[in-house]
Amino acid sequence: MELGPLRLKNPVMTASGTFGYGTEYQKLVDVERLGAIVTKAISVKPREGNPGPRTVETPAGMLNAIGWQNVGLDACIRDYAPIWARWQVPVIVNLAGFTVEEYVTVAEALSNTPGVAALELNISCPNVASEGTPFALRPELAAEVTAAVRAVADVPLIVKLSPNVTDVVEIAAAIHKAGADALSLVNTLVGIVIDTRLRRPFLGNVTGGLSGPAIRPVAVRMVYDVARALPGVPLIGAGGVMTADDALQFIMAGARAVQVGTASFVNPRAAIEIADGIAAFCAREGVRDVNELVGAALP
Ligand SMILES: Cc1cc2nc3c(=O)[nH]c(=O)nc-3n(C[C@H](O)[C@H](O)[C@H](O)COP(=O)(O)O)c2cc1C
Repeated sequence: MELGPLRLKNPVMTASGTFGYGTEYQKLVDVERLGAIVTKAISVKPREGNPGPRTVETPAGMLNAIGWQNVGLDACIRDYAPIWARWQVPVIVNLAGFTVEEYVTVAEALSNTPGVAALELNISCPNVASEGTPFALRPELAAEVTAAVRAVADVPLIVKLSPNVTDVVEIAAAIHKAGADALSLVNTLVGIVIDTRLRRPFLGNVTGGLSGPAIRPVAVRMVYDVARALPGVPLIGAGGVMTADDALQFIMAGARAVQVGTASFVNPRAAIEIADGIAAFCAREGVRDVNELVGAALP
């Protein structure tokens, strides 16, 4: 996949929030073999995140409410970016904010930081100026934050869509028009697990985000719909990619790359094994370049 000046050596990235800052996995896997690493969301100030419990297993997936726990902008630039700058693998920094100004502050600083290859906006954060409605849920809010970040970001800009909407195509079109270079989809689906013995929600935050294989068909459908409506716009698929076959479903639905999230908790080598599996599929099927398969299942 090409993302502006960025060329990914394979179409598999890690998904934000499931691979730390890349450094945590360095001892376990050869991170240089990934197409790209997407970091945990970075906000202006460090955040401790939500009270526990913050995760719970569900059938074919999990619910999480981490609450954007992260080291904050200054520590990201001071402690991590110099390490990323020495890696061959591009590091895409995921951004979170509660106001447009917060996104702009983080984006402007990171866009001028060596080691940061691209930005991914997590716009599922509640917008304090709009009664806490997540930016990702309304086309005008999503477009506003995208345009504001675009104006200060000199690196490729990916905007990540929420699946918690009625019409994902409308939101995708607004974000594309506002200047995003690529769209990643999807973030987690909002859910609740009740602890029946305690007679209250299991997670400290009450609601959490559902991820894993349970959401894959929904995510593939959203990629398919956006790919049909916005041909040519680079899409990155996410949601329950556990195997190379899952990744190929997203690619054939129109994604040029995929992100692997929950699978890394089961097997830290999952993303690399999926990249190898895609290459093996292409060799077996006589496909010279995986890009030939992008959108192969579209009408
Ligand atoms: C524990 C956890 C933390 C996450 N944190 C973030 C985050 O900080 N920013 C973000 O955009 N998405 C975050 N996500 C969403 C994932 O990046 C991904 O979009 C979603 O989990 C679907 O992919 P999966 O089914 O492969 O996990 C998080 C997911 C999990 C499971």
